[in-house]
Parts: sequence; C-alpha cells; structure tokens
Amino acid sequence: MQFDIIHNRIGTNSEKWDSLQSLYGLQPSEAIPMWVADMDFQAPEAVTKAIRGMAEKGIYGYAREDDNYRQAICGWMARRHKWQVQPNALFSVHGIVNAIALSIQAFTKPGDGIIIFSPVYHAFSRVIEASGRRLIESPLVIDETGKYRMDLEATSHRLTGNERMVILCSPHNPGGRVWSSEELEQLAEFSERHNLVIISDEIHHDLVYGDFTHLPFEKAVPSSQSYLITLTSTTKTFNIAGMHTGNVIISDEKLRVKFKKTLSALAISPSSFGVAMTTAAYNGGEEWLDQLLIYLSKNKVLFEKRINQIGGLVSMPLEATYLCWVDYKAYNLSLSEYKHKIEAETKVAASYGEMFGNGGAGFLRFNIATPKKVLDSALTRLEAAFNRV
Ligand SMILES: Cc1ncc(COP(=O)(O)O)c(C=O)c1O
Repeated sequence: MQFDIIHNRIGTNSEKWDSLQSLYGLQPSEAIPMWVADMDFQAPEAVTKAIRGMAEKGIYGYAREDDNYRQAICGWMARRHKWQVQPNALFSVHGIVNAIALSIQAFTKPGDGIIIFSPVYHAFSRVIEASGRRLIESPLVIDETGKYRMDLEATSHRLTGNERMVILCSPHNPGGRVWSSEELEQLAEFSERHNLVIISDEIHHDLVYGDFTHLPFEKAVPSSQSYLITLTSTTKTFNIAGMHTGNVIISDEKLRVKFKKTLSALAISPSSFGVAMTTAAYNGGEEWLDQLLIYLSKNKVLFEKRINQIGGLVSMPLEATYLCWVDYKAYNLSLSEYKHKIEAETKVAASYGEMFGNGGAGFLRFNIATPKKVLDSALTRLEAAFNRV
C-alpha cells in the first residue's frame, strides 16, 4: 500500500522535519513530527507527471489561468461537492493565507473589526493583526457531545458596529468539525444582520470522514453570494502545499470587481507550477484521494481509540481533516511541564493549543497523516509517557 511507505524527508528542506531541532530541540532522526499540516505521503502520480512534463521541456515561463485550469476546478466542485461554480468566479492566488490577506485588503479598512471563531488556525489572527485590523475572537463552546459550536448570540453582544468581516474555517481546524447547514444558515443570518463579508476557508473540504458531508457555504446558503468569498485549494487534499496556490471563488460581480482591484494593486498573478499541479490533481487524483480517505479514516480510528484509552486524554471526535485535537487539561500540566515531561521523553512534536488562540491552552494538535507504523510508534511513546505522569 502506497501510504504505508516511510519516506525519509530529513534534509529536504521540509518545515515539518528540518525545523525540529531549531523549534523543538529534537533530533529529526529520533523525533516524530506531528505538527505542520502536511502529509508524509507522496502526491498522486498525475501531479508528479505534470511536473515531470514541465521539467522535460525545461521552459518555465509565465502561465495563465486557462480554460483547462478553470474547468478542472469547476468539474471538481461539481463532482465532489455538488456545487456549480462559474468559471469567471475564479481567481488563482498564492495560497489560502494569501487569499485571506488579499480579502482583508479588498473588503476592510485599517481599524475595522474581523471576527474569528477560536481556537482556530493560527494564521487568521496573525494576518488580521499584521494588517492593522481589530481581532475579535468569538470563543467556540464545547457541547455535551464534546464538539465545538459557535456562540453567535454571545458574539453579537460584543460587537461595536465597526466589524466588517467574519472568517470561518470550514471544516474547522483544529477540532475537525463539519458545520451543518443549520449552523451555516445561522452564520449567514448573523453576517447579514451585522453587515459582514464572510470568508469561508474551505481548504480541508475534501478530507471528510464517514457519514459527514462538507457543505460549501454558497451551496448551503445560496442567498449569501452577495457577501461571500470562498477559498479552496488542492494543497491539503493532495499534499502539495509547497506550491502555494489557492482558488478564490467569488460569485458576486461587485465583490469580484473589488477583489480584482486588490490583485492588481498587489501585483498577484498565477504561478505556472500552481496552475499545472492544480489542473493535474483535479483531473487525475480522484482515485488516489479515495484511497487516502480510507487510509486516514483507519488512522483516525486508531488514534482516537488509543488516545482516549489513556486516562485523562480526550481526542475531540474528528469529522474532517487529519488534525486531531487532544485535551490534556486533566493532567494539570503547564506547557513547560508538558514539554519537559512528555515531549522531551516521547520526542513527538505536536502543535501547542496556545497558538490557536483563546480556548487553545490545555490542548495539543496531532497530525495523523503519516504511515500507520509511524503513528503506532508515536502512540506507544505517548501511552508510556502519559501513563507515567
Ligand atoms: C484552515 C487553513 N487555512 C489555510 C492553511 C494554509 O493555506 P496555504 O498554505 O494555502 O496558505 C491551512 C494550513 O494548515 C489551514 O489549516
């Protein structure tokens, strides 16, 4: 099985592997990195073939967002997500964080408030603050089934009137929620009432388990088009994040005009590698993805079972993404105690909950997109260390 192969990524300038020493003080040869959200698997052959084709020609000139690229994206959304996207609604930018930064420039002014649902992917707050906008963290609430829910009622009481945008992570990272149509409708209603543009970051849309179905925001709430920007990408799905290419989908003409202006102002144009890899992945990577989802769902079952058997640890039920969110508050360990007593011993490098904002302390995020043998060995180390504390 292709996903069982253990690839040596050390010395490949991989952030996940080659920063272990500088960031965690761990030797890459002994450590198990479960932090950065990329997978230890090779991308689909279709993607490598596209790159090989370019390399054989040896010409790396400027690219266009051509019809094939647009059709590949629209075809994928229609086949996998039952969502009809118009080719003229698409823009190619340099990744999803870049898309968020561009949207902030296009649709808000310095000092405007931007709402996020914390804990959430850390780049949201970083980009908002670096752009001189006001960060409003709306804390997610854990319900009786152990899952995150948005609390829009509490958030509405905190608004001061200069809020212009809300950024949703759908599916949610960390926490792995697939938002329901009711939840999306409620957020649309809230956004309309408060005059907010919604940025729906759907980068994890293809990585959904079991009976859950990701709902593109626009499909769930078609009436939201006039205040909605959707962000998607092939990068998480096919493990090609280093190419830094993302799709911005804007169905509303007025919003598109504003966004286009920002692209011109900041001189953003497509990458030839991004266009080629995206097209190849969507046209030739579907079977690979189906196999990946089977593999990841087995890893998820294994991880949740063994982590939840360690008394005091709770892995939030994962509906999507390969990022498991584990509550270790019952151990009463400060972050530095955790590093000293667990991380130094296990040499397993997880992401610390603190970096995801309010509500993140006392959690760890583990990336389980790695061969089962590696996952097994990480779990064995974690079992031993937590059981000793
Ligand atoms: C929710 C979310 N958005 C965006 C990104 C990063 O996207 P990009 O590399 O395209 O900037 C990540 C990466 O983990 C993510 O989880």
